[in-house]
Amino acid sequence: MNAQFAPATALSGPTMVGPVLVVSGLAKAFDDRRILSGLDFTLAPGQSTALIGANGSGKSTLLKCLIRLIEPTEGKIEMLGHDVRALAPRDLRAFRAQVGIVWQRHNLVPRLSVLSNVIHGVQSRLSGPRAWFQALAPAQVRAEAMLCLERVGLADRAVARVDSLSGGQQQRVAIARMLMQRPAFILADEPDASLDPQTGEEVMALLLGLVREKGLSLLMISHRLEHTLAFSDRILGLAQGRIALDLPTADADAAGLRRFFDHQEAS
Ligand SMILES: Nc1ncnc2c1ncn2[C@@H]1O[C@H](COP(=O)(O)OP(=O)(O)OP(=O)(O)O)[C@@H](O)[C@H]1O
Ligand SMILES: [Mg+2]
Repeated sequence: MNAQFAPATALSGPTMVGPVLVVSGLAKAFDDRRILSGLDFTLAPGQSTALIGANGSGKSTLLKCLIRLIEPTEGKIEMLGHDVRALAPRDLRAFRAQVGIVWQRHNLVPRLSVLSNVIHGVQSRLSGPRAWFQALAPAQVRAEAMLCLERVGLADRAVARVDSLSGGQQQRVAIARMLMQRPAFILADEPDASLDPQTGEEVMALLLGLVREKGLSLLMISHRLEHTLAFSDRILGLAQGRIALDLPTADADAAGLRRFFDHQEAS
C-alpha cells in the first residue's frame, strides 16, 4: 500500500515540539497604507488561539500573510519549521498542504457529492481525476474521506449533492475536506460568521475538538466574543497594526474583551 494513504494515520495527529509559529517584525502595507506594523508572537503546538480586533484591524490580512496568500512587506514567519518567506514556489505549495484553512465561504463544488468534495482535499497529495471523482478515487482515499466525514458527523450524507445540504452541514463538509489534507495547523477566518448561533457553536466545537484530539494548532477569528472565550486557550488582540492584547483565555471575560474594543473606538 502506498504509505501516503495509509488509513491508520489518517486521523492521528502530528507530534510537534517547539513553537509551531514564530512571527517576528511582521509588517504589511497596501500601497502606502500600513495595516500590520511589526507583529511579534509565538504559538505553542496543540493550542487554540483566537485573534480578535475591530473590522479592518488586519486579522484576515495577518492570516493570509502567514501562508503568503498576501505577501508580507517585512518580517519573518517560521511556521511548522519552515522559513515561510524564503520558500520557493514548489516548496510553498508543499508547505501550504500542511495548513488547513476554513473560510467563512467554503468554495465547495455544489453539484458534486459530499464524498467527492471531501476527496478533493487529498489533491495536495494526489492529482488528476482520481482526486476529483469519488468513483475513481483509490479505495484507501475513499475510506479516509469516509472517516473524515464520520468525524464531522456527516457519514450518512456522503452521496448527497452538496447543494442539498444546509449551510452548517456544508461548513462541516469543508472541514472534512480540510482534514483530508492531514493538516498540522488550521487557520479559520470567521468559520461561524454565516451560521445560526447553534450551528456556529457546533462548528467551533468541532474545530476545538480537533485541537484536543489530534494536537493540531488552531488560529481562529470570530466576532462572537462567547466563541472566542469558549473555544480558545489564548487570545491575541490586534489594534493599530500591533498585538495590543495577549492573554490566556482563562484570565479573560466578556466585559474585559468589550473594553478592549471600546478602547480602540475611543483612541
Ligand atoms: N488586497 C487589498 N488591497 C488593499 N487594501 C486591502 C486589501 N486587503 C485588505 N485591505 C485593507 O486592509 C485593512 C484590513 O483588512 P482585513 O480584511 O485584514 O481586516 P479584518 O480585521 O479581517 O476585518 P473584518 O473583521 O471586517 O473581517 C482594511 O482596511 C482593508 O481595506
Ligand atoms: Mg476579516
